[in-house]
Amino acid sequence: MRVGIGYDVHRLVSSRKLFLGGLEIPYHKGLLGHSDGDVLLHAICDALLGAISEGDIGTHFPDSDMTIKGIESVEILSFVANLLSKKGFEVKNIDAVVVAEEPKIFPYRKAICENIALALGIDADQVGLKGKTTEGLGFTGTKEGVAAYAVALVEKKSTDWWSLSGDVGMPPPDDAPKRRK
Ligand code: CDP
Ligand code: ZN
Repeated sequence: MRVGIGYDVHRLVSSRKLFLGGLEIPYHKGLLGHSDGDVLLHAICDALLGAISEGDIGTHFPDSDMTIKGIESVEILSFVANLLSKKGFEVKNIDAVVVAEEPKIFPYRKAICENIALALGIDADQVGLKGKTTEGLGFTGTKEGVAAYAVALVEKKSTDWWSLSGDVGMPPPDDAPKRRK
């Protein structure tokens, strides 16, 4: 098992749509960013990338790259999911906190978790999400920005040596997991 942590902040500005967890949320402001500013998905991507020692979003999607301006963060999450799978990892669970005075996250919790689960190819109950205010304190309290924290647990997919050895007619290696009775 490997664990990763992610953190992100974006500024709230007028004339932008608000995207959180790939869902458009009705609000009079949105998050500024090179992408759609989806602070929650960015924190989750960084947690997943951290867990598999693959740097962070900026390593793979530099904000100097004009070809990805306005990219949907769900696309970034799908890229990360693909990278995980290519490296032989599966996601065990994600937990995240969106820190915002407004809007309330609670009503959108289920839809957001389903969105994230779909992009990662896991069940919605493997994704946790909370909204928190900072009781009016700091940049989140004054509604200047929104922050998000995420942790991710991943595991290297186990190789079923016994079924493989049946295919190629070879015994499993010494360090292969023992056959369960
Ligand atoms: O009461 P406590 O200080 O723990 O939490 P709070 O920040 O005052 O938020 C109260 C409740 O509102 C939280 O437990 C969340 O369910 C919800 N909340 C939310 O859905 N979205 C936010 N942006 C902030 C809070
Ligand atoms: Zn971001």
